[in-house]
Amino acid sequence: MRRNGLLRVLWIWSIIGLASTREEVNCLDGNRCADVQLHVQGPRDVAAVMRNYANSRKVDFHGILLSQFIDSYAQSPWVQWEKLNLSYNLLEDDFFVKLKSPQLKSVDITYNLLKTVTVLPSVKEFIAERNNLTSITINSRILERLILPKNKFNSLEQFKNLQQLKELGLSCNQLEKLNLDELSSMSSLAILNMANNQIHIVEGSCQFASLQYLDLSSNLLTIVDEPFASFPSIKHLYLQNNKIVMWIKNITVPRSLQRINIHNNDWDCANVNALKQKIAYIMVRRSENVTCTNADSPYVDRVIKYRKQEFYQLKSEAAQRNGSISCKSYKPNPCDGDDNRVYEVARPEMNIIDNYSKRIMMQLQSELKREQNYIGLLQQQIAAAQQKYDKLNRGNSDLVNYINDEYLGAGLSGKSDPS
Ligand SMILES: *[C@@H]1O[C@H](CO)[C@@H](O)[C@H](O)[C@H]1NC(C)=O
Ligand SMILES: *[C@@H]1O[C@H](CO)[C@@H](O)[C@H](O)[C@H]1NC(C)=O
Ligand SMILES: *[C@@H]1O[C@H](CO)[C@@H](O)[C@H](O)[C@H]1NC(C)=O
Ligand SMILES: *[C@@H]1O[C@H](CO)[C@@H](O)[C@H](O)[C@H]1NC(C)=O
Ligand SMILES: *[C@@H]1O[C@H](CO)[C@@H](O)[C@H](O)[C@H]1NC(C)=O
Ligand SMILES: *[C@@H]1O[C@H](CO)[C@@H](O)[C@H](O)[C@H]1NC(C)=O
Repeated sequence: MRRNGLLRVLWIWSIIGLASTREEVNCLDGNRCADVQLHVQGPRDVAAVMRNYANSRKVDFHGILLSQFIDSYAQSPWVQWEKLNLSYNLLEDDFFVKLKSPQLKSVDITYNLLKTVTVLPSVKEFIAERNNLTSITINSRILERLILPKNKFNSLEQFKNLQQLKELGLSCNQLEKLNLDELSSMSSLAILNMANNQIHIVEGSCQFASLQYLDLSSNLLTIVDEPFASFPSIKHLYLQNNKIVMWIKNITVPRSLQRINIHNNDWDCANVNALKQKIAYIMVRRSENVTCTNADSPYVDRVIKYRKQEFYQLKSEAAQRNGSISCKSYKPNPCDGDDNRVYEVARPEMNIIDNYSKRIMMQLQSELKREQNYIGLLQQQIAAAQQKYDKLNRGNSDLVNYINDEYLGAGLSGKSDPS
């Protein structure tokens, strides 16, 4: 754990003397506090951090079970933050519409609960794995990395005007097709990950001259046809776990290809044997054993087969719901939400903070004790002084009385005042 920096605490004490809000700030770079890790409890603390640490560069709020970042009705102070990490929280609102951070370049909101989100104009890297996103408003024309696995996107229409984009991650979403023309603005795209969707068709004719890495594994593709000729520089192509029957003959294997996985498909034997000869030297291990079926009319046979498979799948899903699947046959889905991760990440953080708070509390308590001792001492001194005063006062009165008696005795008028 990186916790060697100066750990400082701002406690805001309420009238009754208990900590009502607190921000705990861990400056990871010593006193400069350009790189800070924060533990806050709500938007009020966040606003205080924004005022006190407006000039920090890297700001990390990860793993603190924060459910709101900026009050929906409040104005947010300006900050000069460049890197904001809010991963592993419980955020639901698109707080970016209120965030005033014109230098912001990198954002990580992995493992939150956002349904919609805005990418600010200055942002180059935006990571939002495992939220609940169905929509995104991209206001940045300089975005280079957009990482969105484990969300609920079912269309590519929102990914427009992304000339600088180099990497797009959309695995584990709900996409049903890959229309290349919808990605036509991405002339710099090098990495495209669309694994674990329900993509059954790749269509469109847009060319991606810089695309080097394409992952379409674990989808429902049945054919490698014309659109696959759109990646002339491709180096890595992942097509395993689909239902591909054939690779159309006139789609050549690009010379640039260095690695391909065609495992676990539904290859027609004649077709895949021809293909294997062309790609033998680059196939990932075990691909040489790609299974295949001989059929006269591959596609017609498949249609019947998939109907059957669909039926069996529905049946096995029902059985799974009935709880009759044994642990042995249970395979974790790579797209599972892992909802406990937020708490798993937060717990050690909370422990550290708890221990730290306890330590601070103990320090404060010993200080309090010292103060109390001091007060006791002062009170003793006051009491002693009071006694002295009383004694003097008594002595004074005695003297006054004595003088008055003397006056009376001497038959003189007038009165002596003790003060
Ligand atoms: C954000 O914080 C998490 C948890 O420490 C870390 O795993 C992740 O890499 C950070 N994100 C970035 C972009 O640095
Ligand atoms: C995601 O949103 C849907 C409704 O849009 C909701 O039913 C579901 O509970 C949400 N998932 C999480 C993890 O919040
Ligand atoms: C492949 O052949 C089909 C006809 O069989 C043709 O329509 C298509 O344009 C060809 N594609 C390429 C990339 O040559
Ligand atoms: C290929 O399959 C054969 C028969 O199913 C098996 O004996 C062999 O071990 C497999 N080879 C690899 C590398 O998996
Ligand atoms: C699920 O359970 C119900 C009632 O226990 C039963 O009638 C049904 O046949 C079960 N379904 C499967 C697919 O096992
Ligand atoms: C917190 O303190 C307890 C004992 O007081 C210790 O067992 C635990 O490891 C500490 N946790 C951290 C994260 O330092």
